[in-house]
Amino acid sequence: MRTLDWVDGAIELVDQTKLPQEVEILRLTEVPDLVAAIKRLSVRGAPALGVAGAYGVALAATVNDPATDRAAFDAAVASIRDARPTAVNLARMVDRVTPLADGGVEALLAEADRIRDEELAASLAMGERGADLVRELVGGDAPIRAMTICNTGGLATVERGTALAVIQTLHERGELAEALPVETRPLLQGGRLTTWELQQMGAPHRLLVDSAGPFLLARGAADVVLIGADRVAANGDTANKIGSFSLALGAANAGVPFLVVAPESTVDLDTPDGDAIEIEDRGPEEVASVRGVPVAPPGTPGVNPAFDVTPVGLVTALVTDERVVRFDDGEAL
Ligand code: MRU
Repeated sequence: MRTLDWVDGAIELVDQTKLPQEVEILRLTEVPDLVAAIKRLSVRGAPALGVAGAYGVALAATVNDPATDRAAFDAAVASIRDARPTAVNLARMVDRVTPLADGGVEALLAEADRIRDEELAASLAMGERGADLVRELVGGDAPIRAMTICNTGGLATVERGTALAVIQTLHERGELAEALPVETRPLLQGGRLTTWELQQMGAPHRLLVDSAGPFLLARGAADVVLIGADRVAANGDTANKIGSFSLALGAANAGVPFLVVAPESTVDLDTPDGDAIEIEDRGPEEVASVRGVPVAPPGTPGVNPAFDVTPVGLVTALVTDERVVRFDDGEAL
């Protein structure tokens, strides 16, 4: 299913905060509502944020015509661009679309549609290329057991996904033994969203708590770890959902391939390395509660980095829509 699109003058998207209990479509006609939806993760995942940002610029132009009130348009665009800092796709796609504002809403929409279509094509390409690489790295012909984190499926990209597209392609080829998503505290994208998508595709899976990942890898429970990315720096360091670094250490310890699957739109050659990536801290409330239920005494302080950085030395390879970069063989971006 397509999880985000422009429909009759507004952005429509599946509200990811409501899943898996409800599949609710949000219709957004105002920029502040889009910004709030991005901040609370109703729409999330790097490529989906890029598409939402691109359509957001068109939305801004429908509300504040850049020809007559450029300052209000620019302020609205800036609020979308700055809604979340780590995924490069959001700022990048806003910056790609905005210069077309002089052409009016139609020009902005045409470019946003192009970005949406590029991400759809990228997901298909990553799925095929990634599945081929997994088979090559694992060898033999036994079905694959693939550990993954967060949600990297159609919800995160518009359709199909990145790392989860590889898992879907393996499943469609009859080569998936099982997917092993980690629940992904604090917001449970693995437990709520990835399991939901795996159910939709009829793929075998078992859910685990985050801390079980490295141990199960050490016990030989998975053949490969597949993650997405929010930003891949020029040296290959990769920002992705918090917990990815732990899985990379666990994979290295177990001698299991660790693959980053991300479109070229997530590769940021302007960021030299992982130290230069801004990591969003979402505050203590999300740590001290689960889905609104307190799990710590009231007022407990917390630290809540939404992402971590996996150093390139722990990444076997990057799979994009255009290429495979084998960091383990000394290749570079
Ligand atoms: O905070 P989120 O849910 O937006 O984080 C998303 C991730 O970390 C994904 O793994 C990443 O964006 C890749 S999505 C294809």
